Amino acid sequence: MKILITQNIFPDGIELLKNKGFIIIQNEKKLEKKALDKLIKKHNPDIVLSLLTDKLDEKSFCSNLKMISNYAMGFDNIDIEKAKEKNICVTNTPVSSIADCAAEHTVAMILALTTHIVDADDFVRAGKYKGWNPNIFIGQDVRNMTLGLIGSGRIGYKAALSLYKAFGVKVLYTDIQRNEVLEKETEAIFYENVNDIYKKADIISLHVPLTEKTKHMINKETLSLMKKNAILINTARGAVIDENALIDALLKKQIYGAALDVFEYEPKISKKLRKLNNVILTPHIATARVSARRDMSIMAAQNIIEFTEGKVPKGKVC
Ligand code: GLV
Repeated sequence: MKILITQNIFPDGIELLKNKGFIIIQNEKKLEKKALDKLIKKHNPDIVLSLLTDKLDEKSFCSNLKMISNYAMGFDNIDIEKAKEKNICVTNTPVSSIADCAAEHTVAMILALTTHIVDADDFVRAGKYKGWNPNIFIGQDVRNMTLGLIGSGRIGYKAALSLYKAFGVKVLYTDIQRNEVLEKETEAIFYENVNDIYKKADIISLHVPLTEKTKHMINKETLSLMKKNAILINTARGAVIDENALIDALLKKQIYGAALDVFEYEPKISKKLRKLNNVILTPHIATARVSARRDMSIMAAQNIIEFTEGKVPKGKVC
């Protein structure tokens, strides 16, 4: 069996695959779609081990292709419907360390926004600090804030649990189904109507996959429901937010601020967004820790091994 790995990943999983005797074709750097499709066609592998920046659709599906092992929790980079049609198995890597890391990043972004860590750091580096001034960088207390959790899967759950335990935040949440563990451990209140959460929450944190339904769920109308002191956190997928509407709301100081790890037109980030000082921007690194990357690499390999042994891979998406 021939496996094409589209970009460099942590080596742990690759070692597992080599030990199993697979033929590995390792591409080093991210390729543009056309070049990637060409490379796949050239090698005609049985399996592609891809990253979320590889857009894989019908044009990428070579004649031998039986499986795509995606090295990511999300899989919106793959045309799942077409893969199903062509009987191509798709897997992802929802390891628990990903959820831990993304939850930690969510909390870090909330604290960075409310305590002005980033702009204060810029201020000091620019040589503007002239002595203690009790009137600068006045932030917001996270203690006793109300968290509006949009999506209560493992990342949302862990972020809420940390914020509840450390700062006593009140948790309101919505999801396609109720999360009894979250309710029991954080006294979270379930809301069927997400608009009620937008109206009540001080922190709105997004933890939903990108689908037709969630695309632009944060838009001009929903932003207008939010409180003036609200902060918006996105560690999910960029297009869940209508970025232009958010820029507008931030310019008008309609909400307090936003912290974004993902962007609608990633990796392009609008100049307007980069100029705003009530936003924190990180380059899609919410899960960038050794633990998560190593576990993802191992799970991506294990999915392949399970598939080739005729088992149902643990990370099977379709
Ligand atoms: C990161 O965004 C992932 O989906 O793993």
